[in-house]
Amino acid sequence: MVEVAARPCLKSISAYLPGKPIGELRRELGLRSIFKLASNENPLGTSPKALKAIKRFASESYLYPEGSSPILRQALGKHLGVPPEWIVVGSGSDEIIRLICEAFLNPGDEAVVSQFGFIRFNQQSALMGAKVVEVPMSKMRYDLRAMSRAVTSRTKLMFIASPNNPTGTYCAEVEVAALLQSVPSRVLVVLDEAYYHYARNRSDYPESIPDLVKSHTNLAVLRTFSKIYGLAGLRLGFGVASPQVISWLHRIRMPFNVNLLAQCAGVAALQDGAFVTKSVAIAETGKRYLRDSLESLGIHAGDSAANFLMLPTPYPCEKIFQDLLRYGIIVRPLAEYGLHHHLRVSVATPEINRRFIGVLRRVLRSRR
Ligand SMILES: Cc1ncc(COP(=O)(O)O)c(C=O)c1O
Repeated sequence: MVEVAARPCLKSISAYLPGKPIGELRRELGLRSIFKLASNENPLGTSPKALKAIKRFASESYLYPEGSSPILRQALGKHLGVPPEWIVVGSGSDEIIRLICEAFLNPGDEAVVSQFGFIRFNQQSALMGAKVVEVPMSKMRYDLRAMSRAVTSRTKLMFIASPNNPTGTYCAEVEVAALLQSVPSRVLVVLDEAYYHYARNRSDYPESIPDLVKSHTNLAVLRTFSKIYGLAGLRLGFGVASPQVISWLHRIRMPFNVNLLAQCAGVAALQDGAFVTKSVAIAETGKRYLRDSLESLGIHAGDSAANFLMLPTPYPCEKIFQDLLRYGIIVRPLAEYGLHHHLRVSVATPEINRRFIGVLRRVLRSRR
C-alpha cells in the first residue's frame, strides 16, 4: 500500500481521454483499414513546407533547442502583427492552458468556464485547487453575459474556446467585445482559438490578434499548429498577451518546452498559405456533405465553425462509438461532457466522409 498522499484536489480530476489511437484499435481488432475521426487532425496530413523543414533539420536533433523559441516567436510576431515579447510558444496550446493556470490560480481562486466547454480548462484549473465555476450554455453556445455575471471577487481566470470543442459554435465579435468591457481587468480572459482558421471567414468572427489583445491587457489568445498545419504529433501551440502576462509564463515553462523540430516546422508552416487555404476548403466542403447526409439519416448536426461536427445520436453515444469501431471508424463519444447522446466527428477527405456516412447508415439500420 502506498502511503504517500497525493494532493487532495487530484481526487476530483480524471485523466484526459484522448481520441482512441489507431494503433490501439488495430491491436484490439486486427483491422487493416482504420479511420480516426476523433481528434480533429488535418485530413491532408502535414503542411508540405513544415515537412520539408522537419526532414532538413532532423539531423540536428542531438542539439538542445533554443529555450524560448526566439526564431519562431519572431516569425509569429511578423505574421500576426505583434512584437515577439507578446508571444509564448508551448508544447501544444494545451501547455499554455496549463501554464496560465499555474501562473495565476491559487487554491480557492475561481475560474469561470462554460458548460460543454473544452474540458482541459476545468481539469487544469482543478489541478491548482481552484474552484471551477461552470456557467450553462444557451442553445449549445457560450453565454458570455452569464459568464460575466458569474465573476466574483475571487475570480482570476475566465476560459472561452471559440470555436468551441466539442460544440463547434463560436462567439461573435459583439459578444466578445461586450464581455471584455464588463469583466474587471484583474480577471484574465483566455480566448482559445485552436480552430481560428476555420472560423475566420465568418463575418462576425472577432479579429483578436492583434486588435483585441493590444487593447485589453487582461486578454490572452491561444492558437495551435496542431489542426490547420497538421502538426498535432509534434506538439506546437502559442499564446499571445501583453508582455507582463507572457513574462510570467516564460518564467515557469520548462527550459526546453518546445522541441527543435517543432520550432523549425512552425517557422516553415507559417509560410504555407496554400496549405491553409486547401485545408479550410476541404473542411468546408466536407462539413456541407456531412450535414446534408446526416440530415437524410434523420440526424440534425448543428452548425460548426471548426473542422468537426457535433451530432445527436438516436441511442447512447458509447454504443454507437463501439458499433462504428467494428468497422474501423473511430469517432469521439461525448459522455465525459455529460452529453450521453452526442458524438463528435472530424471532417475528413471526401472519400472517408462517404465511408463514415455509409457505415453509420449500416449501424443505425442494424439497431432498428
Ligand atoms: C479548443 C481546443 N483547445 C486546445 C486544444 C489543444 O490543442 P494542442 O494542445 O494540440 O495545441 C484543443 C485540441 O483538440 C482544442 O480542441
